[in-house]
Amino acid sequence: VFGLILVILIGYLLGSLSFSYIIAKKIKKVDIRQHGSGNAGATNTLRVLGLGPALCVLALDVLKGIVAVWIGVIFSPDELGWYPALAGFAAILGHNWPVYYGFRGGKGVATTIGVLATLVFFPALFAGIIAIGSIFVTRFVSLGSILFAVLTPVFTFFFLAYYDYPILYGYLTVIVAVLSVWRHRTNIKRLLAGSESKIGQKSS
Ligand code: G3P
Repeated sequence: VFGLILVILIGYLLGSLSFSYIIAKKIKKVDIRQHGSGNAGATNTLRVLGLGPALCVLALDVLKGIVAVWIGVIFSPDELGWYPALAGFAAILGHNWPVYYGFRGGKGVATTIGVLATLVFFPALFAGIIAIGSIFVTRFVSLGSILFAVLTPVFTFFFLAYYDYPILYGYLTVIVAVLSVWRHRTNIKRLLAGSESKIGQKSS
């Protein structure tokens, strides 16, 4: 149990490193949470700072999810999957509620991509392809994020019939999807109202 608590703590502290906050402070000396949509994430970095910084944020926020899961894998005493699953989940929670920045973080999408792509690669890949396609067509990043979060469990349970994933990973994808939809609740309202901002458009 001590090992499990340790990997959860490491995952959370790692996830709490908000790269959009760090990079926006470094480049423009601003708090990303007071600009654009107010979200500490890659999409808002794109709005506020441009493509280069946004890609850096995306890569680093994805990476911390991957690293958290791998720390869980390394410490794991068995094949049940609790260590990687909970370390990854803790990183997503850290991204959303970072201990270093007053618990006001992002929506967890990039970190979720890193975690789910490491735990359930093919389901995340298929969900990711559909999500990216939807972003290209609609230019709503939030819609793609929600689709990714919701479709990964669908594909995971489909793949569970063929692949030997720990069932815990399946349950985790469902919890992560619910969390992600809830974090996007204001985006969903804007999408339904037709007022969500598109890529390449100034947000209100
Ligand atoms: O990655 C978060 C994205 O889905 C939405 O971000 O800034 O448009 O609320 P934002």
